[in-house]
Amino acid sequence: MPETTKPIESISFPQDRTCPYHPPTGYAPLREERPFSRVTLFDGRSVWLVTGQRAARELLVDPRLSADRQNEAFPSPTERFARLRDRRVALLGVDDPEHNTQRRMLIPSFSVKRIAALRPRIRETVDRLLDAMVERGPTAELVSAFALPVPSMVICALLGVPYADHEFFEEQSRRLLRGPTVEDTQKARDELDAYFYALIDAKRAEPGDGLLDELIGRRLETGAVDREELVGLATILLIAGHETTANMISLGTFTLLQHPERLAELRAGLHADPPIMPAAVEELLRFLSIAEGLLRVAKEDIETSAGTIRADDGVVFATSLINRDGTAYQGPEELDWHRTDRHHLAFGFGIHQCLGQNLARAEMEIALGTLFERLPGLRLAAPARDIPFKPGDTLQGMLELPVTW
Ligand code: HEM
Repeated sequence: MPETTKPIESISFPQDRTCPYHPPTGYAPLREERPFSRVTLFDGRSVWLVTGQRAARELLVDPRLSADRQNEAFPSPTERFARLRDRRVALLGVDDPEHNTQRRMLIPSFSVKRIAALRPRIRETVDRLLDAMVERGPTAELVSAFALPVPSMVICALLGVPYADHEFFEEQSRRLLRGPTVEDTQKARDELDAYFYALIDAKRAEPGDGLLDELIGRRLETGAVDREELVGLATILLIAGHETTANMISLGTFTLLQHPERLAELRAGLHADPPIMPAAVEELLRFLSIAEGLLRVAKEDIETSAGTIRADDGVVFATSLINRDGTAYQGPEELDWHRTDRHHLAFGFGIHQCLGQNLARAEMEIALGTLFERLPGLRLAAPARDIPFKPGDTLQGMLELPVTW
């Protein structure tokens, strides 16, 4: 039987990308089926896969879909994920009204105004890291020298977590998201929990000026949240706050180096009026879709154009395909700084839409803009095909990025 006539249901999700900046080639038949398909998860379970932009927007605001990972019917993309479901995940794994209470506590710290005030600090961090990299150059491994420390330093400062501990929490975060074994992943979670319990105790004794200190003073001491909930919030903010943007900076750099004409256009527009970076960042977010496979479970039956999503059905949103939906974007496979159809779902949509998006945008604009401005000769220091990138079951990005200038 030819490959293309394979029943769609047998397509597994998630799959590894073939090229780090394109959706996996194995998803090709799913494009034909937009906006809905059925796919099979690692445990043999069949779930709905949403691949169309309009359908995704409609469903991601539908309160009949739940993000509660403790619901037994919640879909698991990996065994690691399945085994971590015994514990509640703050914000991302909570439905309204509780979700709304948690989110409202944090919104002011991530507002456009608060993030605009952080920009000089981000710029200073970026400059300092680039100075050190250039001094050690003219070659570097960009993930460890730049892409990871930028967001890591910024989120530490914002939360009031000592950056001196970065090796510890970057390692736990790596093990949590892609540890070698399930046991290792569970251990990483326990170690991170213990770290935050100790940090909270230390801060109670001697308060600092980060968001964590504010939450301890205003919410923990008043009884509005307990220690467990605060540890949950701190964990998601710290992990989501550095892993995601780090991947966008590394994969964004790789992608730009593989698209020299787009890069030249970007460099020429860095000081244009309006500057090109905000549009370029939006387009990179759409094109790269690093957070693939948003997960929900249906609490009730939901009618769709492709049939009824039944209560307890798993629903997965394939952001890489949603963001290249030809009915929503002109030339969806093209990297185009000038497109007007910029509304992507790389930050999700609905009540769980990324809390840190203003921060992520500021970090990407400053990090990528400054990197390409300061190092006009930046290029890969190894053949592109030999540079390792992350597997499909985690956030997408480069494992390493050897560069020279
Ligand atoms: C380019 C970088 C980033 C990308 C692509 C990204 C992507 C996402 C996506 C897709 C979601 C929604 C998940 C879902 O609906 O299931 C999300 C939620 C979230 N993100 Fe981000 N994120 C990024 C950066 C950040 C940063 C810097 C922070 C800082 C703290 C952050 C904090 C969060 C939090 C707390 C949530 C959960 C929000 C909620 O459930 O209400 N993210 N992010």
